[in-house]
Amino acid sequence: MSEVPTLESNATLDQTRERMRATLQGIIPDFEIDLKAEIAHHINALKKEMNAVILGHNYMEPALYHSVPDFVGDSLQLSSISANTDAEIIVFCGVWFMGETAKVLSPDKTVLVPSREAGCSLAAGIQVSDVRALKLRYPGAPVVTYVNTYAEVKAESDYCCTSGNADKVLKHLFGLGHDRVIFLPDEYLARNSAKEVGAAYFTAFKDDEEDRVKGAAHTVIGWNVRCEVHELFTVQDVENVRRQYPGVVILAHPECSPGVIAAADVSGSTKVMVDYVEQVAAPRYALFTECSMGDNLAAQFPHREMVRNCSLRCQHMNQITLEDTLEALQKIQYKVELAPDIIARAKAPIDHMLAIR
Ligand code: 13P
Ligand code: SF4
Repeated sequence: MSEVPTLESNATLDQTRERMRATLQGIIPDFEIDLKAEIAHHINALKKEMNAVILGHNYMEPALYHSVPDFVGDSLQLSSISANTDAEIIVFCGVWFMGETAKVLSPDKTVLVPSREAGCSLAAGIQVSDVRALKLRYPGAPVVTYVNTYAEVKAESDYCCTSGNADKVLKHLFGLGHDRVIFLPDEYLARNSAKEVGAAYFTAFKDDEEDRVKGAAHTVIGWNVRCEVHELFTVQDVENVRRQYPGVVILAHPECSPGVIAAADVSGSTKVMVDYVEQVAAPRYALFTECSMGDNLAAQFPHREMVRNCSLRCQHMNQITLEDTLEALQKIQYKVELAPDIIARAKAPIDHMLAIR
């Protein structure tokens, strides 16, 4: 798990402020650090009193990311932690589908997401009725759903995957003898993963595209939604960064277009990016992903040069603030509630994914 130092729950306000100043100086203004330190201090005291654990996704804003989470990481890392915690309350500082995954894996815990508005364009882009229609249209093809989906959609699928293991899940299914796999909902992750495993790709219900890949040994059938943040990066952006910052290593999230992935140096989940910056020395690094992450890594690894051309912030991740996190604990809100049968059915594809070695 991440090496981000967490503040002790019993740290005094002065200690909290000093630690945040030491980590965040040059990343956010001093007045902001002082204001946020007071809230962080409250939260850390309250979470201890309430036996709560706070999980922070890599896209949280720097003042939150570097002050209250007990653990930080990508969506799946954090869900796995939630499955193994002794805390009674899990506060998931991330978007709603992540809170749902935590609830599926820890149904007996109280799971809170500090804002109801923290959605996701991918999760919102596929419904249960869509999955059922796809199964009817392509009978026999197993359904793989990206972790960025709501529990009801996971409940309709056979396997889950993350941006870190999508190729592994596809290889597993093709290895079992399937020639076609339905992969939902991110079109770009589906295209990039198909390319990675040497499979053909077509978008569901596009008969002309399907005709063009007839005869392929292995085919990925995708859906037509994209991450509203990552789809905005262009190959021109990659070229601009290369021209401006000699020796830069470009790391792109696989929700970016195939062109951007081909132009980048490394493609991987947010965990892959953290590990790369930590472990691989390079003159400098540019992240083609949600932009708070560049700030978080610049604070975490001050000896690394991070290009900080922060331009694309996820409006959903941006809903989660320290203020809302404090209120979440004070009011026990917003609770993730799922019907028991959805929990059971959504857990199966996650278990199938975890069983792949
Ligand atoms: P990770 O699982 O790689 O952290 O990604 C989550 C996400 O929302 C990417 O946009
Ligand atoms: Fe969803 Fe994209 Fe935001 Fe990630 S960055 S939560 S995929 S909208």
